Amino acid sequence: MNHPPRANGYRDAWCGELTGERAGSKARVAGWVHRRRDHGGLIFIDLRDRSGIVQLVFHPDSSGDAFAKAERLRSEHVVSASGEVVRREEGNVNPNLPTGEIELSVADLELLAESETPPFPLDDDTVEVDELMRLRYRALDLRRQPMQDVMVLRHRIIKAMRYVLDELDFLEIETPIMTRSTPEGARDFLVPSRMQPGSWYALPQSPQLFKQLLMIGGYERYFQIARCFRDEDLRGFRQPEFTQLDMELSFVDEEDVIGVSEKVMAAVFEAADFDVPPAPWPRLPYDEAMLRFGSDKPDLRYGMELHDVGPLLAGSEFKVFENVLANNGTIRAFNAGSRELSRSELDGLNEIVQRHGAKAVAPIYAEGDGWAGNLAKFFSDEQIRAVNAELEASDGDLLLFVADRRHIAPVALGALRIELAERFGLIPADRHELVWIVDFPLFERDPEAGRWTAIHHPFTAPRGSFEDPETLRSRGYDLALDGVEIGGGSIRIHTAEVQQEVFKTLGMSEEEGQARFGFLLDALRYGAPPHGGIAFGIDRIVAIAAARESIRDVIAFPKTASGADPLTGAPAPVDAQQLRELGVRSLVEPQA
Ligand code: AMO
Repeated sequence: MNHPPRANGYRDAWCGELTGERAGSKARVAGWVHRRRDHGGLIFIDLRDRSGIVQLVFHPDSSGDAFAKAERLRSEHVVSASGEVVRREEGNVNPNLPTGEIELSVADLELLAESETPPFPLDDDTVEVDELMRLRYRALDLRRQPMQDVMVLRHRIIKAMRYVLDELDFLEIETPIMTRSTPEGARDFLVPSRMQPGSWYALPQSPQLFKQLLMIGGYERYFQIARCFRDEDLRGFRQPEFTQLDMELSFVDEEDVIGVSEKVMAAVFEAADFDVPPAPWPRLPYDEAMLRFGSDKPDLRYGMELHDVGPLLAGSEFKVFENVLANNGTIRAFNAGSRELSRSELDGLNEIVQRHGAKAVAPIYAEGDGWAGNLAKFFSDEQIRAVNAELEASDGDLLLFVADRRHIAPVALGALRIELAERFGLIPADRHELVWIVDFPLFERDPEAGRWTAIHHPFTAPRGSFEDPETLRSRGYDLALDGVEIGGGSIRIHTAEVQQEVFKTLGMSEEEGQARFGFLLDALRYGAPPHGGIAFGIDRIVAIAAARESIRDVIAFPKTASGADPLTGAPAPVDAQQLRELGVRSLVEPQA
């Protein structure tokens, strides 16, 4: 820590900073009893504060009544202790601890607070503690070293963002939390209004529309460490409330936004001591990403790339493949390498692709320059040789095929690629890869409802003609790190006409567009500069930089997968009177 604490009745030094140089001087420290040992008539206490740990020693004769008090100390009691910093005897030096050369020989001890026995050990990071328990007693969990480390890292990352953006003339401006819906593809969280019964605020899914209004307001370069709220399924790296680094710039094109983003993120990775290749980072068109990886956030740290083998296999005797091709489907495949999987393991692969809507995966082993197994007989030698060449198959390689609808096959096989990379241990722990995904389609057709939906949000600027929405491209870009989308943004629409055109394509009538987004359309009519921006998921970035499996581990007070907070018990029923005041009646009994 940079500054010693101000000397007061509690302390004049940080525990973690009492080193050999202080030997012979007096010090007072304060903190929690991390661990206690009684040894040869002496009592040793490891005392912990945010800076680290120092050993206190209590001698029965020299420590006065401190020794008697020390005998009653238990884990997590809070104390203030003063005495002399003394060098440890040769054999007692602990090289693993910055303060390991010394100990504080305590003359005076004050017990400030007692602690009940903690529900889980706080001094041993190797013990697996049930997550629900950790969240229920979060204050205690936050005392543990892994949590302290990650909170420091998170702070350093956010500080680096603020520093670089300030250097680049960005202004930090806050936008409202109680507002109207800002669509980012999730459900809104709603807040009823007491003063206007029957009306509701929505919590922002992002500050998207406000940052665009700030551009129209002339602020040119804006950023915010912004809290966003999305009521969506919480699988993977998602939380219902999460934090973005949100940015927007005026008079810019894609290169400007990507350039600034690379500056900020490079500084972030440096601050986090996280090794990434130097910028500029590679760019991959969306179509190519889907073709080669079956994902719009591909993990480039390992191979097993996907191939479109439909054209090579067309006209075979294999009815399943032929039917798919006849129905405008596609066949994708990758070479999983020389792997020996049991029959049941091969069958298990079906489950993975089925989770992504595909019917099945066909595993085929390459044998010589042909194929082993009973599928081989349905294909001609030329077909087999062509596929083997395309997949660079050698004898014994496992080739995996998914034949399905065009929007399903690549994604399902892409998911299989990821799962097998993990299973086969192909993911290098110390290498990281960033990639920009560009040239997204603007719209996609909702396969069930048949209508168009925006791939990013509906404020993304299009490239191309509205005559055929299918061919419209978006001026958006996403940044993926190790297979996780860590940021996304776009150049925006800056005229009311184009904005209305997009609303229309999305099936919104002019009245509806005006009712929901009139404030944006109005502002766009008063001289909106060309503008664009991006938002980065801070929780995801911190989690990857800290090598944590879950973003819950990098948020001080997160929610569980069911959106609950075991600490406060939120969400919770409220009393009837409160609801009456809000003009709200519940249709369901609260769940116990
Ligand atoms: P988008 O929706 O892509 O873009 O969000 C930007 C980034 O935020 C992170 N993120 C999340 N992190 C944790 N939990 C979630 N539920 C969650 N959802 C998203 C991701 C994502 O890349 N307004 C636009 C940005 C823009 O166009 O400028 C937006 O919010 O890392």
